Amino acid sequence: MSLLPALITVCGLLLCLSLCSPNAQYCTPRKTVPYSNDLKLFKEGGVFNYSTMLIQEDLGMMLLGAREAIYALDMSDISVKKSAVYWRVTEEKQRECTYKGKQAEVECRNYIRILHRINDTTMYVCGTNAFSPTCDFMSFERGQLRLQGMQEEGKGKCPFDPFQRYSSLMVGNDLYSATSINFLGSEPVVLRSSNLALRTEFKSSWLSEPNFVYMDFVEESVDSPDGDDDKVYLFFSENAMEYDFYSKVAVSRVARVCKGDMGGQRTLQRKWTSFVKARLDCALPEPSLPPIVQDVFLLKHKDWRESLFYTVFTPQSGLSQVSAVCAYKVSDIRHIFTEGKFKTPVAVETSHVKWVMYTGEVPVPRPGGCINSLDLPDKTLQFIRDRPLMDDAVRPITGEPLLVKRGALLSRIVVDRVQALDGQTYDIMFIGTENGYIQKAVNYGGEMFIIEEIQVFENHDAINILRLSSSSGQLYAGSEFSAVQMPLSNCSRYESCVDCILARDPYCAWDFSTGHCSSLSKPSSISTTVIQSLKEGDVSKCPKPGNYVALTPGNNVRLSCELHSNLAQVHWQFNHQPLHSNGKYYIYSGGLLILDTSESDTGLYICDSMEFINGRTYNRTMAVYNLQREYGKMSSLEVAVTLLSLLCLSLIEYVPIQNRDSETKLLGPVPGTPCISNNNHCTVDFKQNGVHRITSLANISSLNGLGYINDESEI
Ligand SMILES: *[C@@H]1O[C@H](CO)[C@@H](O)[C@H](O)[C@H]1NC(C)=O
Ligand SMILES: *[C@@H]1O[C@H](CO)[C@@H](O)[C@H](O)[C@H]1NC(C)=O
Ligand SMILES: *[C@@H]1O[C@H](CO)[C@@H](O)[C@H](O)[C@H]1NC(C)=O
Ligand SMILES: *[C@@H]1O[C@H](CO)[C@@H](O)[C@H](O)[C@H]1NC(C)=O
Ligand SMILES: *[C@@H]1O[C@H](CO)[C@@H](O)[C@H](O)[C@H]1NC(C)=O
Repeated sequence: MSLLPALITVCGLLLCLSLCSPNAQYCTPRKTVPYSNDLKLFKEGGVFNYSTMLIQEDLGMMLLGAREAIYALDMSDISVKKSAVYWRVTEEKQRECTYKGKQAEVECRNYIRILHRINDTTMYVCGTNAFSPTCDFMSFERGQLRLQGMQEEGKGKCPFDPFQRYSSLMVGNDLYSATSINFLGSEPVVLRSSNLALRTEFKSSWLSEPNFVYMDFVEESVDSPDGDDDKVYLFFSENAMEYDFYSKVAVSRVARVCKGDMGGQRTLQRKWTSFVKARLDCALPEPSLPPIVQDVFLLKHKDWRESLFYTVFTPQSGLSQVSAVCAYKVSDIRHIFTEGKFKTPVAVETSHVKWVMYTGEVPVPRPGGCINSLDLPDKTLQFIRDRPLMDDAVRPITGEPLLVKRGALLSRIVVDRVQALDGQTYDIMFIGTENGYIQKAVNYGGEMFIIEEIQVFENHDAINILRLSSSSGQLYAGSEFSAVQMPLSNCSRYESCVDCILARDPYCAWDFSTGHCSSLSKPSSISTTVIQSLKEGDVSKCPKPGNYVALTPGNNVRLSCELHSNLAQVHWQFNHQPLHSNGKYYIYSGGLLILDTSESDTGLYICDSMEFINGRTYNRTMAVYNLQREYGKMSSLEVAVTLLSLLCLSLIEYVPIQNRDSETKLLGPVPGTPCISNNNHCTVDFKQNGVHRITSLANISSLNGLGYINDESEI
């Protein structure tokens, strides 16, 4: 009776529909693409945690790090393994690790965490190595991966604990890493491993129980009038120090250091002199504790000032199910660090410290700046050592999230920028979720729009890593169990002109010459015979639909009408009069069922789809049927079974959906579905021979009717 809870939930969801905000339809992806075997997949038996990726576009190769294994895969088809190396923990290491109280089979293994390119043939790789982080060089020559066996110390570069978040970045020959430097995971550092190694102070004002998320490099020295230095930006969350709360509250941060930092001479020796941080704001529509940054992607622009950090935020308390995407401009972050005010601690009462805006005189040269010299005045260094936090928070472009999504939490993000037919560029976000979907979304001038959601993991595994290759048009995702590859677009999914235009997918355009929705990346398609309408979704240039199908009537007739969009509503007409579900007609997500037909039912049946895009309504005829002669007859039991089956079929669709996302299919059921909540039992009420019969769906399995609707009632 596993259907029952699902049915109750669905009835509950229908109720919730009326509670959603007016804008709620935009948290609904227009299309839901279920898992398909066409996706290219890589996994190897007995190997798990495919969570580190390095794309080498010039070599056509993707390096994939998993637990105790590294693979060199063909970028154009990751199911093709070119080479592999295995890096297992020694028995001795594993014994030491379990002796310290860690689990042998999970924690005391070697999780590959760092994979960076050094040159054409050499890579740098680190693993947790049973809570004893170790690094090595790895070569790829003559088609073979090989570890050099250098066994370098990995402390401070790679986490001890495989469950801890970390980040790392290779700039030239310097490795930047943000992780914990001790076994307990209690001493966080941001470290540069180079000839002149630098790290953060062990002070909670610098880092307070941080969760490191992302690092990237911005070449701010390019065209800098005042000879500024390149920067490394770091994103993380940590305990807030600026709020007065009784309990710990986390906040999201962006911090940066200068590439040319050399540390101080007396104060801040071998420590960053340029480490500054600021709060990142991304306001969710509902009042809540500050949301937490989970992943970041730097969308580079040729002018670095215009580059954007796209970020995913999730709620900090488990109660809420709303995630958001916010984007920040590099120049806005830079402005706060170079011009903004600092915060300073003040003692209130005896032991309590409060952080407030610093209003005193700021030493010169300005603390936290990029000054590539050892002899900075102590005053400047002491100032920044004690006050690394800026007073202002960084606000997202447009001041609000670009996307807000209810349901399964968002986990990872990458963003591609494409030029569309209108000559403008659009940023297309690919956002991984904790239930194995990729949400493909665009923000059209303030309007959030999810083009489609694509299921990439058959068992709804969480997406732990997402990588983009813009030049080859491919996306790569990894989970605990496998890695998959997906094209950035598949225009052939849009079968008609109207569907192609309403998809508003910047990669796709309708081509009149071929009659197909085709990819804009194919140069031949850039001609006057293609149309696109991204901001407006204007279908007026599309040819009128005409597929009229005639049908012979029976006693019970099913007329199918599939909507191609979750955002659409269905409207049926009979001889130009609107139809509604009642004892005679039953409108369900797959079409219309007409019960007990007679001569008076002959005529024209029209199925219209109404879709709301950007404040406008698109009314479009999906199917036209002409009922004429009589044909066949169903018994009343068959009617009951068919009805139940139809309802059931539509409910069955909900079972996985309810697991993965409470909102995506809300618009699926047609209003008027005969679903009544009664003593926590969902029942179908239909009239037969003038008598209402209530049939409990708890009995549905005994009716065994799921496969029933086929034969004569089928079109
Ligand atoms: C690549 O880097 C490694 C390690 O630094 C070095 O030994 C090797 O000579 C380099 N190879 C090339 C082709 O530069
Ligand atoms: C690795 O995958 C296994 C199998 O699903 C899982 O039990 C384990 O928790 C994962 N480890 C990490 C660090 O995610
Ligand atoms: C694109 O979509 C079509 C139609 O759904 C499908 O047959 C095809 O396999 C898809 N192509 C890829 C590469 O996923
Ligand atoms: C859709 O448009 C057609 C033609 O304008 C009209 O006859 C029909 O009533 C409309 N349907 C709805 C549901 O508005
Ligand atoms: C199922 O139907 C039978 C009659 O077919 C009835 O006796 C029984 O009580 C029903 N079970 C439930 C759970 O409603």
